[in-house]
Amino acid sequence: MGKVTSRRAVLTAAAGAAGSALAAGCGGNGDENGGVTEETGPAPSEPPGGRALVATSEIPVGGGKVFEGEKVVVTQPEEGTFKAFSAVCTHQGCTVAGVEGGTINCACHGSKFRVADASVAAGPARRPLPQRQITVESGSIRLH
Ligand code: FES
Repeated sequence: MGKVTSRRAVLTAAAGAAGSALAAGCGGNGDENGGVTEETGPAPSEPPGGRALVATSEIPVGGGKVFEGEKVVVTQPEEGTFKAFSAVCTHQGCTVAGVEGGTINCACHGSKFRVADASVAAGPARRPLPQRQITVESGSIRLH
């Protein structure tokens, strides 16, 4: 227990006070919510160096790994070379299922994209997966 005041509670109280003052000022016939409840707190910002996604040791050479939550697929076409692409299939928007046999594979209709550059190895997709930006630092891959 104790006296804990959340940020939202403080904002709501402030908005309420503003609303009452306004209402009193113009005869109490106004819209109490007239836009004063909008929260304008600072948005959680990403760290400048991107955020840690995975250890390089978890990405197989010649293969890769799909991160569904981030909608990104990270590959290691050659030892020590890491690439990242959007995991959203360019055919109809499914999230690609996995990386196997040197290609990033979409289970929806069977499209395959090469691990080296996400170019199309097999349709029906016709466009490569867009590249995503990563940096590799001390054995860790960071997504930007
Ligand atoms: S959505 Fe990926 S192959 Fe159709």
